[in-house]
Amino acid sequence: MKLDGIKACVFDAYGTLFDVHAPVGRVAAKLGDKADAVSRLWRDKQLQYTWLRSLMGAHADFGIVTADALDYALGAHGIADADLRAELLELYMRLDAYPDARRCLAALKGDGFKTAILSNGSPEMLEAATRSAGLADHLDHVLSIEAVGIYKPDMRVYQLAVDEIGVNAREVCFVSMNPWDASGAAYFGFQVCRLNRLGVPGDNLPGEIAAEIKDLDGLAAIVG
Ligand code: 2OP
Repeated sequence: MKLDGIKACVFDAYGTLFDVHAPVGRVAAKLGDKADAVSRLWRDKQLQYTWLRSLMGAHADFGIVTADALDYALGAHGIADADLRAELLELYMRLDAYPDARRCLAALKGDGFKTAILSNGSPEMLEAATRSAGLADHLDHVLSIEAVGIYKPDMRVYQLAVDEIGVNAREVCFVSMNPWDASGAAYFGFQVCRLNRLGVPGDNLPGEIAAEIKDLDGLAAIVG
């Protein structure tokens, strides 16, 4: 499937360009056989808190949500270790990018597309992560939901990309590894390419996904 009329490629950040399980991976020896479960619960709670805070009208930035979710995950597994908590939050500020992320962004820019991140992350978190992963030079825009004060998949978030990049929704190829984010972006009107590294089913939500890729190296051929 090839997308038509694309001018900008807009990426979700956490889970799509950046590996959210890298921090726990770095300290896995300290967590032993709880490592995978802690990392998964941390991520699950982090996302739930974004949705719940948005519904409650009680916004707090992604740094606070991420710390609250980590506290939940560590507590649920009976882990009380302030140094480990601090280390994990520090590692979250300089996440590893997936190896195909930089290649993909560089190729798209070389082909004349605008490139952007549209993320739940706070401006500080996104600035630190894009810089430490060496992605900053390949991005025209790094957009944080803090500009609208509500999390994905609120439609105001996707509108932010249209307004800031200066394109129509149909001229955007939005790429996300998070199925619910892919659905939200498609419902808004972007042409969505769902990244599905793990071969898992998409969500049963409104919004028609235009294309699917198993890694970011596959994107250039779809938008080109
Ligand atoms: C992001 O907005 C949803 O975590 C995801 O980067």
